[in-house]
Amino acid sequence: MHVPVVIIGSGPSGLLLSHLLHIRGIASVILERKSRQHVEGRIRAGVLEMGTVGLMRKIGVDQRMNAEGILHDGIYISVDGKRHHINMKALTGGQTVMIYGQTELTKDLIAARLAHGGDIVFEAEDVSLQGIESDKPSVRYVKDGAEHQLSCDYIAACDGYHGVGRRTMPENRLKTFERVYPFGWLGVLAKAKPVADELIYASHARGFALCSMRSETVVRHYVQVPSEDKIEDWSDDRFWNELRTRLGPDDASLVNEGEVFEKSIAPLRSFVAEPMSHGRLFLAGDAAHIVPPTGAKGLNLAASDVHYLSEALIAKFCENDEQGLAQYSQKAIARVWKAERFSWWMTSMLHRFGDEDSFDGRVRRAELDYVLSSDAGKTTLAENYVGLPF
Ligand code: FAD
Ligand code: DHB
Repeated sequence: MHVPVVIIGSGPSGLLLSHLLHIRGIASVILERKSRQHVEGRIRAGVLEMGTVGLMRKIGVDQRMNAEGILHDGIYISVDGKRHHINMKALTGGQTVMIYGQTELTKDLIAARLAHGGDIVFEAEDVSLQGIESDKPSVRYVKDGAEHQLSCDYIAACDGYHGVGRRTMPENRLKTFERVYPFGWLGVLAKAKPVADELIYASHARGFALCSMRSETVVRHYVQVPSEDKIEDWSDDRFWNELRTRLGPDDASLVNEGEVFEKSIAPLRSFVAEPMSHGRLFLAGDAAHIVPPTGAKGLNLAASDVHYLSEALIAKFCENDEQGLAQYSQKAIARVWKAERFSWWMTSMLHRFGDEDSFDGRVRRAELDYVLSSDAGKTTLAENYVGLPF
């Protein structure tokens, strides 16, 4: 069977790409290693930039997002228990962000793709790519024990950090950049009312904490933990107590405890692979780059890659213009590095790194004090947080 575009991975990037191509009449097949239930159950990001919201609106998968998503004009930054407000809307000429879980966005995208006759092969095993340097690439996979082959014009690897796409690129073509942080985030989903009307990013001598939300009745909170910590080390009681301590006494009294129904630890890393294309293979999203979650950029960066890649594929299929595909990597990478920088900066400024009573510790603290006391500093933070233009 021949299909114009084979997409590997049904995370946000693969699903969005498939929809954006579909509305311009370009067919694709998505090959996904996991089951639909698994993909729809993964708890991840929660903050959408307006660029990402715009893409959901463009493909018409926005009814539930418009009804249930919560617009936030700003964020709070708490330093040793004292809360400061960053009014992003005022600082950026009217821009906001939307709180809508990646899990919900993924469910909406899968349902809409299937409703429009889209082809998603869940539980596709042993996906492998052939002929990416030729003009007749193909993809093999196994489904229910039977081997299948799809010939195609282009392959989009939207298969995350551990995917097969990046690993198929010749090693001598790839340059990778990486930073691993000496801590992770323990994240909790609980049935409780949010601590405040907007998110609180807290920097405290005991480490970073973040109070987020999914709705008026479900909260998503995180605390910085050492890389070695295991989930068994963190009882619900220990988590709530640590969160309250890091928020300081005033905000601690606003924390509503509730039934914890998900708890996990995610490591923090920065990673970029360049270039993001080779021959007929194009990488998008986590397949090409990872950011630490502090700036809420991972999902949004996947969406901006897909915006560039979809435009390039549409130009090729609809106007036989190959320039966009030739420039995809360069265009995407420029935006990727700006989000990498911002995520690294937010992580560096808000977390506790070893000895605070050191030169680095004092500089970190001075930077935070400066940003919060300067309109220029707050504006820099705000315009990156709401998302740089595509
Ligand atoms: P993914 O969502 O990873 O999707 C890739 C898909 O490809 C998956 O469905 C996978 O099963 C599939 N796949 C992989 N290999 C193969 C293969 N060989 N064959 C077929 N299919 C394959 N970002 C934030 O901004 N805030 C957060 O709080 C946050 N929390 C996160 C927590 C975790 C545990 C992780 C892993 C990421 C988190 N992120 C967060 C990042 C954000 O979720 C990602 O940036 C986003 O999911 C990227 O989307 P994607 O579609 O590129 O990749
Ligand atoms: C969430 C995650 C983030 O990484 C972040 O910066 C803000 C919110 C969340 O899961 O809600």
